[in-house]
Amino acid sequence: MTARINPSILAADFVNMERDLHRIATADLVHVDVMDNHFVPNLTFGPQMAGRIQDVSPIPLDVHLMIDNPEKWAPGYAELGAYSVTFHAESTTDPVSVARRLREIGARAGLALKPGTDVEPYLDLLAEFDQVLVMTVEPGFGGQSFMPETMPKLRALRERVSQAGLDVWLQVDGGISEKTIAIAAEAGADTFVAGSSVFGAENPALAIDTLRREAAA
Ligand code: DX5
Ligand code: ZN
Repeated sequence: MTARINPSILAADFVNMERDLHRIATADLVHVDVMDNHFVPNLTFGPQMAGRIQDVSPIPLDVHLMIDNPEKWAPGYAELGAYSVTFHAESTTDPVSVARRLREIGARAGLALKPGTDVEPYLDLLAEFDQVLVMTVEPGFGGQSFMPETMPKLRALRERVSQAGLDVWLQVDGGISEKTIAIAAEAGADTFVAGSSVFGAENPALAIDTLRREAAA
């Protein structure tokens, strides 16, 4: 299984975004964290900024919505051309209809689960999604420590995906570094978001290579 590495621009320099996007051009996708200061206690940016990132990014966008009311906002990110749009299970009562709308527009649909959210209710819905994001920290901030207690969720997801023969990517986000990535890979993740460990490195391209290697080890 080839590991996908998606650097999170939450750890990039916001006033040198275009430069930083080019620094991670060897990654698979660029992870774009949208926060509304309601769903999470932090604020980043909305569709206008995401649209400009889409315009100048050498690689496609993996949008992570940490916002209320994805019914209203998620389709706009698909319309601006994001490759994948992931919203939180905790932010909607009808994740399937949000996912169907995203797919209709042409984006991959992702479902994110906070560390405390049980995966069981979603296991029978996996065919409706292209990826599931298991948060390995509480969403809201970069630079937090990886939570190994979230790994059983990943194992349950991997088991169901294999059993059902589905092509659903399993993503982890939060505290992923060269030290923790193998733990998540072993538990079944194939897609890895990394903010501080990529942009905090002297050479982000080298950090991406190291993460890919460690995930495969
Ligand atoms: C946190 C965000 C992450 C964040 C990860 O809520 O969803 O994408 O940027 O940052 P690190 O890799 O530093 O934990
Ligand atoms: Zn994220």
